[in-house]
Amino acid sequence: MKKERVGKFYDVVWTKYIPEYSASEQHLEIFFADEEIRNKRVLDAGCGTGIFSIIFASKGASQVMGTDISQGSLETARSLKQKFNLQNVEFREEDTLQLPFEDDSFDIVWAWGTVHHTTNPFKAIDELARVLRRGGSLLLAVYRRTKLTFLHEIIRKILLQTPKKSWTALSKVFAFFLAPVVLMFKKREKSRKGEKLEELILDWYFVPIRHYYYPEEIQKFLEAKGFEVEKFLPASGRFDSTSNFILKARKK
Ligand SMILES: C[S@@+](CC[C@H](N)C(=O)[O-])C[C@H]1O[C@@H](n2cnc3c(N)ncnc32)[C@H](O)[C@@H]1O
Repeated sequence: MKKERVGKFYDVVWTKYIPEYSASEQHLEIFFADEEIRNKRVLDAGCGTGIFSIIFASKGASQVMGTDISQGSLETARSLKQKFNLQNVEFREEDTLQLPFEDDSFDIVWAWGTVHHTTNPFKAIDELARVLRRGGSLLLAVYRRTKLTFLHEIIRKILLQTPKKSWTALSKVFAFFLAPVVLMFKKREKSRKGEKLEELILDWYFVPIRHYYYPEEIQKFLEAKGFEVEKFLPASGRFDSTSNFILKARKK
């Protein structure tokens, strides 16, 4: 099944790739002030190795729940919890499409770069909206659809046919040739710093499920569900076509 392939992919990719704490913290602070986090219940859905959960917990959230389908990522997340000696964070294996939480369980729902890797992103957003309480905030970072999306998809579909064993080496080769181009656009860097190009390439082109959306599509969907957009960032990275757009929306 495709979902299991995504989990297995992140068992390998994301566990080698723990985003930097300070860069991730700076990113989180664009969307949530410390006062908004203190004593709040947070769901980090598709938490990966859990860096955002750790930051929410360190900033005084009352309870942080990090969920993911990748067991490898969750193991790394649990070791981070130990390293930071935090009691207010828990990591559980759960599918965003079917969360075992009651309606209105969380004050903040954070889903960074994850709903677009599920088999049904709109169902995933529905689930995230369900478990968020009224007045709470949902943050979504979603791959942006652009004129170049078709090209990225052709590359991804071709590369997915290559043997798995060669994927790390192939992303290093791609990174070598793309590095000068990327450097030329250094000034446009907006994303979490500390991400290596070869890791980004592995994540862009070798993941089994990847959906792309126009921001308006997601915004309309959220508004129809009674959300109000609080903040919008059009692109997280140097290039729109490989970026997430980010929406923070309040459930009215
Ligand atoms: C690009 S990583 C982002 C990880 C984390 N949010 C971060 O920014 O550090 C995407 C994550 O979504 C998870 N994921 C994909 N489909 C999922 C699903 N149906 N339920 C829960 N997690 C899922 C993957 O296992 C992976 O850890």
